[in-house]
Amino acid sequence: MFERPKAGQRALLVHLEFPLADFESDRQEFIELARSAGAEVIEVIGGSRREPDPGLFVGSGKAQEIADAVAASQAELVIFNHALSPSQERNLEKIFKARVLDRSGLILDIFATRARSHEGKLQVELAQLQHIATRLVRGWTHLERQRGGGIGLRGPGETQLEMDRRLIRERISTLKRHLEAVRGRRAQSRAARARNEVPTVSLVGYTNAGKSTLFNALTGDLTFASSQLFATLDTTVRRLQLPAGDTVLLADTVGFIRDLPHDLIAAFRATLEEAREARLLLHVVDAADPERMSRIQQVEEVLREIGAEEVPSLQVFNKIDLRPDEAPRIERDELGRPQRVYVSARSGAGLELLREAIVECIAPELAEQELVLPPGAGRLRAQLFGHHAVRAESVDEQGNFHLRVAMPYERLRGLCEAAGVSLPLPPREPWELSAG
Ligand code: GTP
Repeated sequence: MFERPKAGQRALLVHLEFPLADFESDRQEFIELARSAGAEVIEVIGGSRREPDPGLFVGSGKAQEIADAVAASQAELVIFNHALSPSQERNLEKIFKARVLDRSGLILDIFATRARSHEGKLQVELAQLQHIATRLVRGWTHLERQRGGGIGLRGPGETQLEMDRRLIRERISTLKRHLEAVRGRRAQSRAARARNEVPTVSLVGYTNAGKSTLFNALTGDLTFASSQLFATLDTTVRRLQLPAGDTVLLADTVGFIRDLPHDLIAAFRATLEEAREARLLLHVVDAADPERMSRIQQVEEVLREIGAEEVPSLQVFNKIDLRPDEAPRIERDELGRPQRVYVSARSGAGLELLREAIVECIAPELAEQELVLPPGAGRLRAQLFGHHAVRAESVDEQGNFHLRVAMPYERLRGLCEAAGVSLPLPPREPWELSAG
């Protein structure tokens, strides 16, 4: 329905620097976004400005420079890494004599090529129409063609523009109706899951952090992970087996990104609701990305926007195979609760730790172990209390302490080793310990 950049479309990119923005890395991400949309990037035109020009966004000298570059390279498309107003877009197109796409339009385009499910497609089309509706100032010849003859559609005195607006409004309301129906069904299946008390764990994270790869590594299936941005658009849900023998549902969600267009967040609210109603969020972070800390903040911002900031979350620092200085491990807060797990979805390193940490987060009682400590192991006992890990205690006639401890095996073993006592396998049986 829309004229979108096709694969291999020749594009000039425009990325301006404004004070405070992180220039280099945003520029790289922008290039990746454009490539993900199938653009053939001819050149990235840079520059800096104190603030956007109201009419052209760039200054008139810069506009001419871009127009010359378009003419020289025969670019078909100029993509801006910024939000442009409809009139800026129009003015620039006149000067460039080429199509202009802003950052929102670019992201919408990527989403349009990635949507797989019926719902995803409806959501993207709705977001695109809403984006376009504000830009509709010339004749919308594409809709005219769509109309298939369209006899009788055009009322007397109705201009092309009025008719286009009306068609778009009608299409928007049809899409909204369809989406309502789909959402109703989704809510029903979520309610059914809640009734069966199957907890859902949702993967969230910046685009390209490795969510799909981790999803596949954890659930043991091989579907597609690509180096393009936003390979995943629709929520996929699969069963995840945990070490304690329990099962939870793991949901893979759409990748987040800085400045995700608001139309799109609104459109994807239903999909992202999965995250809001999850028992636990696994926030996947690309540990090898120099921008990882600001990515974390950007994801947290989107989580706030969709009302998921209260859901407990566990950070998963992925791709440690690219970071020789990082080993698989669990990092904990002062109460001993897991905060961050270092893994490699690709090599599988740390995935068992991640499963343990998930159990601890969603069902601390599943991580509980029975321990029998001899009377001489008072220091270890004090430490366990110090970590708030003891859930119940009794003392038998021989003075042994029988403890129920909420602590995963690996960590307990570390404490025992430090205390000079050995902790035998297997972890699901009560342990008889002897002072070392
Ligand atoms: P979106 O769908 O855009 O949100 O991406 P995603 O977060 O689902 O990322 P995806 O799983 O598609 O992975 C992105 C890229 O990172 C792919 O090229 C993966 O092969 C790569 N990748 C994922 N996990 C690892 C890892 O542990 N180590 C390395 N070296 N690469 C990884």
